[in-house]
Amino acid sequence: MSQILLLQSSLNGPASRTNQLMERFLQTRREQGHQDQVVVRDLTALDLPVLDSPLFHALRGAEPANEAIRQAVALSDRLIAELKAADLLLIGAPMYNLNVPTPLKNWFDLVARAGVTFRYTDTTPWGWWRGSTPWCSAAAAACIRDRRRMRSPPTSNPCSA
Ligand SMILES: Cc1cc2nc3c(=O)[nH]c(=O)nc-3n(C[C@H](O)[C@H](O)[C@H](O)COP(=O)(O)O)c2cc1C
Repeated sequence: MSQILLLQSSLNGPASRTNQLMERFLQTRREQGHQDQVVVRDLTALDLPVLDSPLFHALRGAEPANEAIRQAVALSDRLIAELKAADLLLIGAPMYNLNVPTPLKNWFDLVARAGVTFRYTDTTPWGWWRGSTPWCSAAAAACIRDRRRMRSPPTSNPCSA
């Protein structure tokens, strides 16, 4: 049995194309005989803190400047533990203003912690664990409306690890 961490970041709730694609992905796995335990994390409901200077320094080991920063560091610890517990990471990343939604960016900022989840080397940052296999589900209007630019239909694709 695999543990899947599924991240939702769409503003469209049940109407979300990205969420529908991820559900289709899970359905396909069920049809293939996988018995997954799925943890669904709706990032839009978490009110994740923005990575500002006090939080950045606290995540690097400085004394938290206040109680809110202390709680944000504790939240970062919990999100990292949840990520490490997953065998497979499924990221719902619709395109909003040529980018990922803000809650998803905030999640990346909270789990990407130097000295905790990755380290710097002479050449490139290096992840410290390889447990979770990441997949991305993405939907964007441009790909759907302009078929001349559509190289492949909106789908779930493996991210580079
Ligand atoms: C706030 C907002 C910004 C968007 N920006 C873009 C964009 O820059 N490029 C694009 O191709 N589509 C853009 N779209 C369209 C969405 O990518 C498209 O509707 C997609 O299906 C949304 O995924 P969702 O249904 O999972 O939320 C935007 C939609 C919203 C709501």
